[in-house]
Amino acid sequence: MTSALMNTYGVRKICLDRGEGAWVWDTQGKKYLDALSGIAVCGLGHAHPKVTAAITEQAGKLVHCSNFYGIAPQQKLAEKLRDISGMSKVFFGNSGAEANEAAIKIARLHGHGKGIDRPNIIVMNNAFHGRTLATLSATGNRKVQAGFEPLVDGFVRAPFNDLEALENIASNNNNVAAVLVEPIQGEGGVNVPAPDYLNALSALCEQHDWLLMLDEIQTGNGRTGKYFNFQHSGITPDVLTTAKGLGNGMPIGACLAGEKAAELMQPGSHGSTFGGNPLACQTALAVVDTLLEQSLCEQAAALGDYLLSRLREELTELENVTDIRGQGLMVGVELNRDCPELVDKAAEAGVLINVAAGSVIRLLPPLIITREQLDRLVGVLVDLIKAQTP
Ligand SMILES: Cc1ncc(COP(=O)(O)O)c(C=O)c1O
Repeated sequence: MTSALMNTYGVRKICLDRGEGAWVWDTQGKKYLDALSGIAVCGLGHAHPKVTAAITEQAGKLVHCSNFYGIAPQQKLAEKLRDISGMSKVFFGNSGAEANEAAIKIARLHGHGKGIDRPNIIVMNNAFHGRTLATLSATGNRKVQAGFEPLVDGFVRAPFNDLEALENIASNNNNVAAVLVEPIQGEGGVNVPAPDYLNALSALCEQHDWLLMLDEIQTGNGRTGKYFNFQHSGITPDVLTTAKGLGNGMPIGACLAGEKAAELMQPGSHGSTFGGNPLACQTALAVVDTLLEQSLCEQAAALGDYLLSRLREELTELENVTDIRGQGLMVGVELNRDCPELVDKAAEAGVLINVAAGSVIRLLPPLIITREQLDRLVGVLVDLIKAQTP
């Protein structure tokens, strides 16, 4: 029988039924170690009791009421995120793409405020910012854009991790209002920039009065070993977007603005029917509290170091492994050829992984994973990668 679903995801061979911690089971009862977490979403793992309790209690109280009314959990969550990030104001949507849409609109308001009629935003090659028209236009991947032209105007592209390219743009283009960048590119292949990249980028943005807008949709919420990735560098962005791990599976996204950008949105500028509803915000509050109370960001840093060192021990000598990189529990193993088949092979061996940018095995396990579970993951990967060597 043909599926009633649009064919956006191709054929999906595994149908997942339930989960517990870092484990998931399919409808046939087969058990997998989840090293993907719903693409960096379920940082607390599956069926976390604090998340389940928040959802069930709030569902019995008030699921939704619209933003015509004050929402106490939304206010509380905004304050919590403000305190964690050092930003000033928060707008809530339902996804990463929507958080980036808000950021793009803020950049344009900033540009117009400076007297720029057609403000430009600098975005990076191999970036991924979402699938809405504006965010796919910001994305640096032709496959994501093809067929959807005309693209949204106003994006200028530069190589990632290349300050000189940005300085060149600065000397040739007076219409730049902002830079939008992932601190570590996820979909682009777990690309980690030089350690001083964010600091230098922040200084350049300051110098030109560009908003520094960080897309922490994937890197946020503890994934890389700090609550937000920029906290490794000591800078503060002007705009910060996050989603994925914020709701542990409850759809929620946030666009945070620092002092310079916090007042640009005014009543009527932007909105969302569902964004910031009581159910999503109460769930996210439980997620954030749990991440902080259980020191899971620090745990992600330690587990990430362990995972990287184990992978390096086992894989560095292999001819088909070209790089092993990452930060916290966002790790990539790059092979010397495309390896999409490893996703199915790993699943057969009882491990869920992902391949990004064709040749990068991307690992995004839940932050609550144990060292023993990481050993098991490494064991399966080593066997699969060794079996690939000619
Ligand atoms: C860095 C980054 N930005 C934006 C998005 C889009 O988020 P969503 O799929 O929730 O719209 C993603 C999703 O993979 C992402 O990794």
